[in-house]
Amino acid sequence: MAQTRSSFFDDDLALLSLLANQTAVVLENRRLFEEVHGLNRTLERNVSELRALNDELGAFAYSVSHDLRAPLRSIDGFSQILLEDKGAVLGDDGRNHLDRVRAAAGRMGSLIDDMLLLSRLTRDEMTPRNVDLTGLARSVVDDLRAREPRRQVEFKSNGALAARCDERLLRIALTNLLANSWKFTRQREPAHISFGGDTRDGEAVFFVKDDGVGFDIRYADKLFGAFQRLHNDSEFEGTGIGLATVQRIVHRHGGRVWAESEVGKGSTFYFTLPPAEASEAGT
Ligand SMILES: Nc1ncnc2c1ncn2[C@@H]1O[C@H](COP(=O)(O)OP(=O)(O)OP(=O)(O)O)[C@@H](O)[C@H]1O
Ligand SMILES: [Mg+2]
Repeated sequence: MAQTRSSFFDDDLALLSLLANQTAVVLENRRLFEEVHGLNRTLERNVSELRALNDELGAFAYSVSHDLRAPLRSIDGFSQILLEDKGAVLGDDGRNHLDRVRAAAGRMGSLIDDMLLLSRLTRDEMTPRNVDLTGLARSVVDDLRAREPRRQVEFKSNGALAARCDERLLRIALTNLLANSWKFTRQREPAHISFGGDTRDGEAVFFVKDDGVGFDIRYADKLFGAFQRLHNDSEFEGTGIGLATVQRIVHRHGGRVWAESEVGKGSTFYFTLPPAEASEAGT
């Protein structure tokens, strides 16, 4: 009898301990689930706050650039009137100063244009589809060649490389990268520029490479900030908005952009994009 009771207890104990273990697992799962749920809610809140902040900043940049135009037009307009009406009285020095005021107003105008363009890039809707980037690069180089037909530039590209992106934005990005290569190879004849890419680990990686003047690689990250330049205006013209534009476009597509360079040897700029989708191949 004692024997039966003991084995009865043993079975009960085993069952109870199994139940207790399973309850513990269920409780732990429940706790983890709530923790993940809580983290998700915080993340969603942060994302929507960031989105709102980003929209606000975009709207701010847009209206600042717009509102700066009116006083700028006055500065330019009245300087011109002064030059025309009182030019003789002002003498050479006075006229020279007014010319400088007008040139500065003109420069500020193009900075505003660039800022407007940059802020529009983050606000405009995107239409992603499969785009042949090699074809796009070739057509950008054709445009550059048409503008400076005397330059001797050998351009090479491999195959037809596609990615899933907004064609209009990618044309702007490639124009900036290729125009840089075109500009910073000015002292080389013939100059070599190439465009290529590959699909690696589920993303499309592209590059624009040149054998131009290059730059000090220590400043590579800085270059992607607005108005950051490593070469002065007298040597190579520009405002320093090109790479900031490229970075913004690539980031909007969820990609990365970086550079490699050696002074005197040339530069390579890389960027990644989502790969083309098979169902839409051939577009
Ligand atoms: N291919 C390149 N070779 C050498 N330096 C480069 C190259 N591309 C960019 N850089 C350096 O990075 C700087 C920033 O480039 P970015 O395109 O932003 O401006 P920019 O070409 O000077 O002016 P903008 O593009 O506004 O006309 C350049 O001024 C130059 O110093
Ligand atoms: Mg540029």
